[in-house]
Amino acid sequence: MLSMTDTFFQELQDDLQKGVHKKGHPFRYCTMATVGLENMPRLRTVVLRKVSENSKLTFYTDRRSKKILHIKENNKVSLLFYNSKKLLQIKVEGLASIISDRALLQKYWSGVQPNSRKDYTANSAPGSSISNPDTVEYLDEDNHFCMVEIEAFRIEYLKLRRPNHLRIRFSKIGGEWNGEFLVP
Ligand SMILES: Cc1cc2nc3c(=O)[nH]c(=O)nc-3n(C[C@H](O)[C@H](O)[C@H](O)COP(=O)(O)O)c2cc1C
Repeated sequence: MLSMTDTFFQELQDDLQKGVHKKGHPFRYCTMATVGLENMPRLRTVVLRKVSENSKLTFYTDRRSKKILHIKENNKVSLLFYNSKKLLQIKVEGLASIISDRALLQKYWSGVQPNSRKDYTANSAPGSSISNPDTVEYLDEDNHFCMVEIEAFRIEYLKLRRPNHLRIRFSKIGGEWNGEFLVP
């Protein structure tokens, strides 16, 4: 049965795909929150690389980065997307997993542009202190490229509009997404 919230679920799925594939789309970037060590909420911007049918969202990172440590500590994460033209906010809650399949990593690594490879090949771990920003050295052969996949279990859609704002919570229950309208 088609529910009244379905068109909005479709809209958010389409917008996430645009984030991945359309140059300049605001959903290319999201803010990811982790709560790892010491119960400290931590935020950072990441690039949305892939969204699959079953609501798995993928980003790339250096496996030595702190976020990986936090995800290992606690794999519950949140993602925040905002489109200022549509006044649309999407909040995603999910479980993060670090992809360790070597063949898969190799496949995606070969698609990383040469000038972006530096993001995953610094000699020292990201966040290490240095005396000068121009003296970072990079590995030639090796890399620390890593992919993180977030399996969403709850997504909240909020659009500010007149006369009524629109807020919908989508929850994945038994493999199916269900939507319900909420008081904005
Ligand atoms: C526009 C922009 C895009 C970014 N994209 C990524 C990304 O895709 N992956 C990533 O690991 N860090 C990305 N960063 C850097 C992170 O925001 C963050 O500073 C870094 O990864 C260290 O985070 P951590 O110490 O929590 O691991 C991006 C930063 C900016 C400003």
